[in-house]
Amino acid sequence: MKRTQLTQLPHAGGTRCRGRDAGAMISGLFVACLLLGNAMSAAAAGDAKAGRKLYEDKCLSCHGDAKTKGTLGPSLIGIIGRKAGAGGGAQSRAMSESQITWDEPTLNAYLAAPSEKVHGTIMPIGVQRARDRDDLIAYIKSMR
Ligand code: HEC
Repeated sequence: MKRTQLTQLPHAGGTRCRGRDAGAMISGLFVACLLLGNAMSAAAAGDAKAGRKLYEDKCLSCHGDAKTKGTLGPSLIGIIGRKAGAGGGAQSRAMSESQITWDEPTLNAYLAAPSEKVHGTIMPIGVQRARDRDDLIAYIKSMR
């Protein structure tokens, strides 16, 4: 009787332990994934060169650049840190009343879905791909 108990106990303990190890391993992997995810999103800072091309294709006609300045819409030069609706050009009341001070996250959200971020904005287009938005923002930040 005593002998079977002794041989069973370490076995049972071993099983529990393996179970715990698997759990620890899974949560370890989970943490590793989170860390990797963070590292990747930090590294996903956009490519300003690709952003320039996108800007020329999709934004320049309305927003201008250092040479043309704002054409139809507001100038985007120096937009980081600026209040929404302060860039000149055609602007909606919704934009100036939005209380946004532009930074990367707000720009990203606005570009992803302009009229969801600012109800009543008159900017007609958004940028669907997250990668494109990162690249565009990198370029916009570099515009002087
Ligand atoms: C058809 C013209 C048009 C195009 C194309 C366009 N925009 Fe706009 N954009 C506007 C107008 C007009 C506004 C002013 C919106 C408002 O006040 O509601 C605006 C506003 C903005 C603002 C807010 C500016 C501020 O000072 O508050 C940002 C940022 C912006 N656009 C980025 C972009 C980017 C990036 C692209 C290219 C992917 C782009 N826009 C393409 C017309 C355009």
